[in-house]
Formats: sequence, C-alpha cells, structure tokens
Amino acid sequence: MKDFKGKVAFITGGASGAGLGQAKVFSEAGCKVVIADIRQDHLDEAMAYFKPKKAEVHAIKLDITDRKAYAAAADEVERVYGSPPQLLINTAGVNTFGPAEASTFEDFDWVMGVCLGAVINGMVTFVPRMIKTGKGGHIAATSSWGGFMGFANDAPYAAAKAAVNNLMESYYLALKPYGIGVSVLCPTNIRSNIAEAIYTRPSSLEATGYKADEETVDFLRTIHAQGMDPVELAGWLKRGIENEQLYILPFSNAEQMLKENFQRVLDFSTPEGTRRQDELAKKRTAETARNKDPYQTTDSGWGKASADLTWVNEAARAKRKTR
Ligand SMILES: NC(=O)c1ccc[n+]([C@@H]2O[C@H](COP(=O)([O-])OP(=O)(O)OC[C@H]3O[C@@H](n4cnc5c(N)ncnc54)[C@H](O)[C@@H]3O)[C@@H](O)[C@H]2O)c1
Repeated sequence: MKDFKGKVAFITGGASGAGLGQAKVFSEAGCKVVIADIRQDHLDEAMAYFKPKKAEVHAIKLDITDRKAYAAAADEVERVYGSPPQLLINTAGVNTFGPAEASTFEDFDWVMGVCLGAVINGMVTFVPRMIKTGKGGHIAATSSWGGFMGFANDAPYAAAKAAVNNLMESYYLALKPYGIGVSVLCPTNIRSNIAEAIYTRPSSLEATGYKADEETVDFLRTIHAQGMDPVELAGWLKRGIENEQLYILPFSNAEQMLKENFQRVLDFSTPEGTRRQDELAKKRTAETARNKDPYQTTDSGWGKASADLTWVNEAARAKRKTR
C-alpha cells in the first residue's frame, strides 16, 4: 500500500504509545482513523489531540479480548466510515514481568490473551470483511524484538510475540492472492505507557506469581522513558507497509542482531554451541554488573516472584543474571 489518502485505518491500542504514534502518522497521511482502546482516559487524551486538527479520527472503547464487542466495533467502523478498514493495525499489548517458574495460569491468560488472542480476534473479525470488499489493503501487527527469543523474566509475553511473528507470516502468504499485504513490526524499547499495563488487568485474571505493583510500575516508567519515539516508530511502520515488507525491524543494525539471534538457535542445537552460549551469558552477566544495567540493579523488585512464592530461588537466580 502506497497511497493512504481516504483509506480507513483501524488501530488497536491507538490511544497511547506506539498506537497513538501510528494514529498520528496515518492520519497525517490522509487516512480516516479509528482508535480502539480499553482505556477511556487514553481515548479522551488522544481525541483532545486530534479534535483541534479537525482530523478524521473516531474513538471506540473496546476490550479487544471480547469477541462480541470486537464484532460490534467492526460494525461501527462500517457505519461511521462506510466500509471496513483497508488498513488494520493490531497494536494493543500488555506486559508484566516475573520468573517464568512463578507464572500462574492467569499471568499467561492475560498477557497471551491480549498480545496473541486479541490479534487473532482482529484477524478473524476483519480479514473476511476486508476480502469481501475486493479492494485489497494491508494488515500489520506490533510485535516485539522479544518474539525472537525466550526470556527468563517475560515468558508469557515472549511466547505471545513469537506466535504473532509466526501468525503474521502465515497471513502474509495467505492474503497475497487477495491483494492484502501483511507486516509485523518488531521494536525494542518504546517511549510509551506500557509500564501501566497492570492497571488494565481484569479482576478475573488478577492472580499473579510476580511482584507487580506501584514500585515496579515506577521503575518501568524510567525504562520506557528512554525508548523510541512512537511517531518515529510509526514512520518505520509506514515505510515498511509502503515497501510491502513482512518484517519491519526498526533498527540500523537489524542484520547483525538477527545473525546473532539465529546463531543462538544454531548454538543451542549442539553441545559445543551450548557451551559457547553459556560463555556468552557469563560475559553478559559480568558486563551488566560493570555497567550497572538498570534491569539488574533496580531495588523496585522488578522481575521478582510474588513474596508468597517462597520456593522461587531468588538467590540462585541473582547469581545467573540472564535476560
Ligand atoms: N513499550 C515497549 O517498550 C514495547 C516494545 C516492543 C513492543 N511493544 C509493543 O507495542 C505495542 C503497544 O504498546 P505500547 O508500548 O505503546 O504501550 P501503551 O500502554 O502505551 O499502549 C497500549 C494501549 O493498548 C491498550 N490496551 C491494553 N489492553 C487492551 C485491551 N484488552 N483492549 C484494548 N486496548 C488495550 C492500553 O490501554 C494502551 O492504551 C504492544 O503490543 C507492545 O507489546 C512495546
């Protein structure tokens, strides 16, 4: 897709962070934008930005894990703008950190429900509607660099993002005959509000194995304050869509990063390689100790198990500081 003028763009999580950056960029490119978000305060703030600009932006309060509500939102898009979106951007996501071994079913259900399940909801809701219009289009998902590897402290999120990368590749192949392009954006740190994700965790899924509270939210705010500007990131997405790229890797050294990543996969498939990876992990541990890596030196309790899980061996985990 190269011409965005008059196209309807539906952006989940479009009221904050990466999604809001996308709403700004595609609105400026001439799209009629729908921002769908679970947080009314985020929607209100975003609309306060767009209204004075007289931009064609429509806000829908939506929990994207709710399939019935999702279908109703899709109907609303057609009512408001006269057609299904030609540009669907699945961006809403949540995260919470803690030892994989402390994870509860609820930790998995919440994070994977939003980060993977709701992307599936977006695809199943909109793909048939988009195909039926016969006008082609483009679909993107905001995944994460974290989808390319495992994380001791972020298992549900990494698993969801790995699945999203894979899912988008399947749709990329499947939707080509319909003239619908598919992309997956894989950023690292973004200047966003994702530190506050736990505020949207449903009460039915509140049982967590992690320490996740105001202290860890405050700590994460300082990390994400250093992330990429969402409008800059949306620029990478727009160029990737224009070029019909499946993978959009918003870094200057993406090739080197991917080579190291796939070397890791090769290494972990042989005993010698596993030893090499162990050595690399030791080096990284020493480096993070020297450089005072904020993730490792925080006293907020970030990445730790909930205090009642006394069987999680934090002392042993601290000695081996892996990602
Ligand atoms: N922040 C980062 O460092 C980072 C890095 C890589 C990838 N990402 C991904 O970027 C995407 C956007 O996140 P962000 O960092 O801009 O965070 P953000 O919190 O600023 O924006 C996400 C928005 O999604 C909304 N949301 C959460 N659950 C929802 C639900 N069930 N239904 C509808 N809306 C919901 C939130 O209310 C929020 O407005 C996510 O998929 C995230 O995983 C973020």
